Amino acid sequence: MPKPNKRQLIAAAMRARRNAVAPYSKFPVGAALLTKFGRIVVGANVESASYGLTCCAERVALFKALTEGEREFTAIAVVARAPKGPMPCGACRQLLAEYAPDAIVFTADSAQPERVRQFRVATLIPGAFLHVPVKLTRHRVAFG
Ligand code: THU
Repeated sequence: MPKPNKRQLIAAAMRARRNAVAPYSKFPVGAALLTKFGRIVVGANVESASYGLTCCAERVALFKALTEGEREFTAIAVVARAPKGPMPCGACRQLLAEYAPDAIVFTADSAQPERVRQFRVATLIPGAFLHVPVKLTRHRVAFG
């Protein structure tokens, strides 16, 4: 399992942030997920005119990675222009607890990307709701 290279992961989140679609908040966020095989999957926030449909950068990265077959994650970096870096919202924390429980969360202010803070998912969302144990294997789909 590769050791998460936080500088590289923060740099990937910084690049991903440029593709954020945040015309309402004007708060672009970038995220970069590191898989256990060393692959980096990035995401950025996408907003909607119906504000509640907005999807955070972390969830975009996570949903991309999951739907590309990735199942195990060692770290996620999140970057935005926020003092000390953005903290994942409650919804993203819940999903991280479900699909990336062992990941380290790196966060940095895009104005100071060399200053990185790090957290464990379990610390960010203690006592997260988890349903019956789900085996996170890829499903084999048979077409008729
Ligand atoms: N946002 C993220 O993408 N990630 C976070 O960790 C915090 C918030 C987005 C959602 C919305 O598009 C904008 O930032 C303002 O809340």
